[in-house]
Amino acid sequence: MEKIIIEQSKELNGEVVISGSKNSSLPILAATILYSGTYKLSNVPDISDVRTMLKLIESLGGKYSFKNNEVVVDSSEISHYEAPYELVKTMRASVVVWGSLLGRFGKAKISFPGGCAIGDRPVDQHIKGFESIGYSTKISNGYLETKKITSIGGEHFFDLKSVTGCENVILASTLGDKKTILKNCPEEPEVVDLINFLNFCGGKIVKKSDTIEIMPSSSLKAPNKAYKIISDRIEAGTFGVLGCLPGNKIKLKNINSDDLQVPLKIIKKMGTRVDIAKSSITIEGGGEIKPFNIKTESFPGFPTDLQAQFMVAALLANGESKIIEEIFPSRFIHVAELRKLGANIKLKNNTAIVNGVASLNGARMQASDLRASACLILAGIIAKNKSEINRVYHLDRGYEKIDNKLMNLGVKIWREKE
Ligand code: EPZ
Repeated sequence: MEKIIIEQSKELNGEVVISGSKNSSLPILAATILYSGTYKLSNVPDISDVRTMLKLIESLGGKYSFKNNEVVVDSSEISHYEAPYELVKTMRASVVVWGSLLGRFGKAKISFPGGCAIGDRPVDQHIKGFESIGYSTKISNGYLETKKITSIGGEHFFDLKSVTGCENVILASTLGDKKTILKNCPEEPEVVDLINFLNFCGGKIVKKSDTIEIMPSSSLKAPNKAYKIISDRIEAGTFGVLGCLPGNKIKLKNINSDDLQVPLKIIKKMGTRVDIAKSSITIEGGGEIKPFNIKTESFPGFPTDLQAQFMVAALLANGESKIIEEIFPSRFIHVAELRKLGANIKLKNNTAIVNGVASLNGARMQASDLRASACLILAGIIAKNKSEINRVYHLDRGYEKIDNKLMNLGVKIWREKE
């Protein structure tokens, strides 16, 4: 196991090229299972969650190559329809192969994805969505067993906006027998990217605000050219927080600023100078950090995946900030670690009240999940002296070459054996 050592680093200045989106790559890789063929993807981040998904595709009978952020998947020999416990337990997002396996085989056996550090992660919305379009699910021996029981297609209204829940039902209905209409759908850019990929391969899917209409296709065929995965808005927002700190000036490249409207509004509220272009943003810290309020919501609201990272900016703000977590109410595991640095944070239910302090002191911290790890890295950068973060494998699940990207900005960061 490795640990990351960070020394307080100021006057950070430079550019960072944002990688492709993890949460777009995973459902699109799953979509290559849906119909036999060879699929080329570009701008795929080289992170462990992508490699886990590729191993899952291989375990089902698929073949792949992955180099220089380009993936080629050959799904022609996929013959299994079970996502095993060993893989699902390492990555909950494996659940997104469920819809593709149903679409291809009319049945699927998925190890029940457990909860994780950010809270309970139920799958009732996936099951209800499948039911509305002609599938039935039973749970046996810790597995979800779903099969087709009538013609595939129909109408479904989601009780709540579940990103992978909606992605799964889109995948399960793309090759259906009749039209599917999904309502109260999430509008995250990653859901849109999946729809665009399926249409790139011959799908007939139309999104109109939170309604998605899927006309059945009899087959899919990937064009010979690669499909480019969208930029990772959460990685962009994570580095964006660094730019808010007084004395820092960070240029984010290879991004889509439309995907970051609300986080950028908060960054401006902090008193930060922001220059926005279509595919790049320059963020320059002001003389201080003004306090701010955040409430996490489905897109286009403030993303829950940036909540922990933005909390770091509040730690040194001139006043009281309020952070309300509406998506995963217990997503505050990072608070206990930040308190070790001297942070002043009070928790009440799903609300964190942060009062800025004059300075923080480095400490040993423990990472618990992907976004909390990124939060602790940011905290280590602003805290005095040295900080140490254990269990950094969480970080490598979703941030490509993050050490190099930070070093290039002037951060004093390195890894050691734990
Ligand atoms: C996706 O997870 C993302 N993961 C998460 O990012 C992200 O935090 C989340 O969406 C919310 O934006 C991927 O896309 C791979 P949800 P997902 O279903 O789909 C409840 C990261 O760090 N719910 O949208 O699993 C659920 O408990 C990860 O990159 C049900 O009640 O999240 C939560 O409160 C972390 N029943 C809310 O809905 C269900 O069947 C949103 O969950 C499904 C979800």
